[in-house]
Amino acid sequence: MAKKQILTIPDPLLRKVSEPVIAFNAELKNLMDDMLETMYAAPGIGLAAVQVGILKRIIVIDLAKEGEKKTPLFIVNPKITSKSKELISYEEGCLSIPNQFAEVKRSSSCKLNFLDYDGKEKELSADGLLATCIQHEIDHLNGILFIDHLSKLKKDLILKKTKKQKKEIDRVIV
Ligand code: NI
Repeated sequence: MAKKQILTIPDPLLRKVSEPVIAFNAELKNLMDDMLETMYAAPGIGLAAVQVGILKRIIVIDLAKEGEKKTPLFIVNPKITSKSKELISYEEGCLSIPNQFAEVKRSSSCKLNFLDYDGKEKELSADGLLATCIQHEIDHLNGILFIDHLSKLKKDLILKKTKKQKKEIDRVIV
């Protein structure tokens, strides 16, 4: 397994729509293993393949807290089959938008079909944090970021702060 670099905004790849996975082979499993390692190291609770520069419809999630037994979830080619009208809000962050957080409202529960690590068809009903995390990651597969769910004012503020952050990093390197 190898840790991969996580792309951050404004990398244009983050705005692209990812392609469905067609073949389940060793290369795909390597990629999924690398994604999981990258997510654990970050650390984060969800990661989409596009965030490591691969435009494939693959998500890894693990909501286990530090010190708890790991519970990795591999979700390939997800399709949401139903979403609750009831909404829930969480303060969300994203490994591709470092150090920025904002409250986002999403469906409080959802059902989906997907393929697992071995390419087997699975069905899942999710609610609470898992439902939010799945919707956030599926957004990534469609080139959508959590800041797109905010008002223009809040979104612009986060974009401005991220730009400033990058400049400060550059300054230290120079
Ligand atoms: Ni994200």
